[in-house]
Amino acid sequence: MKTWRIGVIGLGQRIAHVLAAMAEMGWRLDVAGYADPAPVGLPILEQTGIDAGEAFASAADLLADGPFDLIMIGSPNHLHFEHLRAAFAAGFPIFAEKPIVRTREETLALARILAEGRAPPLFIGLVMRSMPIVREVLARVDAGELGDITSMDATEHLHPEHGAYLARNWRRRAEWGGSFMLDKVCHDFDIFGRIAGSRARRVASFGSRRIFNPAGAMRAMTYDDGAPAYALQDAGWSGADDAFGSDMDVHDHQVAIAHYAGGMALAFHANSHVALQERRWYIAGTKGTLIADLVRNKLMVRPALARRKPERIDFGVRTADNHNGADQAMAFDLLAALEGRATFPVTAHDSLEAGLTVMAIDEAAARGEAIDCAPMWAEYDAAR
Ligand SMILES: NC(=O)c1ccc[n+]([C@@H]2O[C@H](COP(=O)([O-])OP(=O)(O)OC[C@H]3O[C@@H](n4cnc5c(N)ncnc54)[C@H](O)[C@@H]3O)[C@@H](O)[C@H]2O)c1
Repeated sequence: MKTWRIGVIGLGQRIAHVLAAMAEMGWRLDVAGYADPAPVGLPILEQTGIDAGEAFASAADLLADGPFDLIMIGSPNHLHFEHLRAAFAAGFPIFAEKPIVRTREETLALARILAEGRAPPLFIGLVMRSMPIVREVLARVDAGELGDITSMDATEHLHPEHGAYLARNWRRRAEWGGSFMLDKVCHDFDIFGRIAGSRARRVASFGSRRIFNPAGAMRAMTYDDGAPAYALQDAGWSGADDAFGSDMDVHDHQVAIAHYAGGMALAFHANSHVALQERRWYIAGTKGTLIADLVRNKLMVRPALARRKPERIDFGVRTADNHNGADQAMAFDLLAALEGRATFPVTAHDSLEAGLTVMAIDEAAARGEAIDCAPMWAEYDAAR
């Protein structure tokens, strides 16, 4: 069995967890080294018994130590484009975390690079595409079981500790993370476009920093059983101490509506400080209706005119990180793709389009008006 020589750029929590899932799925790993000024993921790798290899001073130094079977990019979002370009020049296959890039300019520049056709294989960690429940949703939609999808609503509601982490971690700054929606729900918008079978034509959105703001610093900092609140996780690279008093400039809650070119209407609601956690998609088609509960890993579906009980599928696995086995499924898909046995479930272009959709939503929120996405797609198509 092959041993995979891997180089890591940005050894944060995420890449450490992905490497752990790869090991769990039977990959033979030789992590040759990493480039990261403050590797947040090192303790996670140590716990899983994976040797992180040599600490390189820079991504360039690491890449010069090739050949690698895979370069893994898990740096903060503002560095993805720079790290992708360096890895393209080195020519090794790449797994890069989502969002693929952080801005519209970077999206167009990357689309142009990909259009040249010289980039090495590139796999993006839009991990939901590998989840069995999501595959089932897409299979039902593709089989026409729901008919034409007329409308759907979706949520992504995070518990207060998760919200507080986002308000303290590098994701709190647009210059690093992009936006609340871009970092957190580019996954979901990737799937929504896939369900709609088309691109968003018109979007509108509202959001603000209404929870984790200085006024909120007055609120109780303990749970009702006395346990400390808003402090559980290490905020990591460029982290801030106080979730309420940080220099956060992204939203902590946001709603959006989108009308897709194929006709589907979407309503989306995200909040980062809820007592009842939820990530749920309600998909209404002319022939049937489907609810996917991504937190509880359960799906319910029934034809529109059926009188019988809905069909229910419980996908079983539930994990504390809410990924519910998705990382292991993605590790499996990645190996199959690298070995040429299957295509990876999501393309770099899918990732670019999901990012652009969310960026249009953020622009709509910033401008306070509905946005016509046609000029954005025209620019993107010209670039690719
Ligand atoms: N697919 C998913 O479900 C998922 C989940 C979490 C995070 N992510 C993505 O993974 C990426 C990393 O997120 P994370 O949660 O691991 O964050 P993190 O803060 O835990 O890790 C980021 C790492 O990048 C390092 N870094 C900073 N500057 C660097 C530089 N110049 N060169 C190399 N490394 C540098 C930091 O020191 C840190 O170790 C982000 O793009 C995030 O959106 C994806």
